[in-house]
Amino acid sequence: MKNKADIAVAGLAVMGENLALNMESKGFAVAVYNRTGARTEAFAGGRGKGRNILPASSIGELCDSLERPRRIMLMVKAGSPVDELIGQLLAHLEPGDIIIDGGNSFFKDTMRRTAELQKKGILFVGTGVSGGEEGALHGPSLMPGGDIRAWEHIRDIFRAISAKAPDGTPCCDWVGPDGSGHFVKMLHNGIEYSDMQMIAEAWELLRRFCRFTPETLAALFEDWNRGELESYLIEITSEILRRKDPETGAYVLDLILDSAGQKGTGKWTAECALDLGTPAATIAEAVFARCLSALREERLAAAEILPGPSVSEAQDGKEFAESVRQALYAAKICAYAQGFQVLRAASLEYNWNLNYGDIALMWRGGCIIRAKFLDDIKRAFAADGDLANLMFDPFFSDALAKAQDSLRKVVAAAAMSGIAVPAFSSALAYYDASRSKRLPANLIQAMRDCFGAHTYERIDRPRGEFFHTDWTGSGSVSATSTNYNR
Ligand code: 6PG
Repeated sequence: MKNKADIAVAGLAVMGENLALNMESKGFAVAVYNRTGARTEAFAGGRGKGRNILPASSIGELCDSLERPRRIMLMVKAGSPVDELIGQLLAHLEPGDIIIDGGNSFFKDTMRRTAELQKKGILFVGTGVSGGEEGALHGPSLMPGGDIRAWEHIRDIFRAISAKAPDGTPCCDWVGPDGSGHFVKMLHNGIEYSDMQMIAEAWELLRRFCRFTPETLAALFEDWNRGELESYLIEITSEILRRKDPETGAYVLDLILDSAGQKGTGKWTAECALDLGTPAATIAEAVFARCLSALREERLAAAEILPGPSVSEAQDGKEFAESVRQALYAAKICAYAQGFQVLRAASLEYNWNLNYGDIALMWRGGCIIRAKFLDDIKRAFAADGDLANLMFDPFFSDALAKAQDSLRKVVAAAAMSGIAVPAFSSALAYYDASRSKRLPANLIQAMRDCFGAHTYERIDRPRGEFFHTDWTGSGSVSATSTNYNR
């Protein structure tokens, strides 16, 4: 056993414990600390026993036990616990030491912390960690960003513990400055929300139109997982569909209350998209769908008073199921196109110079949205690093050309049968609006100008020139001067 540890993990909830064990299994000596000392002892004497794990009973002891520069990874709840722990650490650190925040912190907090700690000579890294408990133990996707000077000191550990893509590439690379690592993780979660909502919608459509049994549905998702939809979330869906409750013998899924929870990263993604003026409606719809599901009492009451059509069984279940598969693929492309548009807008706004292809590769393994599909995204950005929209890449425009008809068919069938498919519908609206040469936004501009003299641009004049019409004959001829697009 080494006398000094290579890295410390502070915060021994399940993610912290598993990351520490993962690091140790790759040959690193790991110092561990938890605010409640009993937990540190329980870990060191339990899962960490007989391994190169050095328990510390105080922050001072933790810092003393580390090689220089010290590397300390915080695995505590996002928000004030991170600031409090940083405050305690500062008394024991020296310039050049590294603090890594591995929680789901809001990227603006990470921006602030990077700048504040830089002034004190401490190198701060905010890293996305995805993959849940299993990922943390066996190989998460890691998305570090912050003070670039830290990268050479943490790269070997991070790459060793991270998941590997099928071609062996570590699912971990330096994302960019200040809050970019946490931004990319937040966006990953936003996409995770839309992926999950779309899979749930697909399942609902299959269940109600095709009336398939859970076993047939499980086999269908298994089959989907062998094609272009191959992904972790599709894989676990088929496992979930088959699982029975040992006590009642019922399918577990049938026993679960239809009220979805959320911890807030999807909401942050939608808020950031709004702040950046970027249309990520499918991701936002996935967040709202969870909110609506949580209004269960209201829904039950509304079911008694608001009428709708009934659902008639699809004439050819197999054919309809294939349409749903294609619709899911098309909607997924649209949602990822939105996600990457948000990344692009953030990269421009904050000067992060993000590499979108590398980000796709970081998500290729270990994380919740891992999917074969990300190889195609990587290829699209390798071909054009400044691709404005994923849908414009020839591979994806071709895929959409083939699948868009199924998305229409499925959304129309859902609408006519009164089945809510908010993510599918919004993906279709995004697709159609994005390819429209002329949208009805001219009427919006006219109304804004009519009631508020907000002005408009003209199709027969250069962009940037603004005009006002005295619509009522009694209004002012002068216009309001503030114009903004977001
Ligand atoms: C991951 C997950 C992880 C967490 C989600 C759950 O990448 O490993 O995204 O971060 O499980 O944040 O989020 P909700 O509770 O909001 O669904």
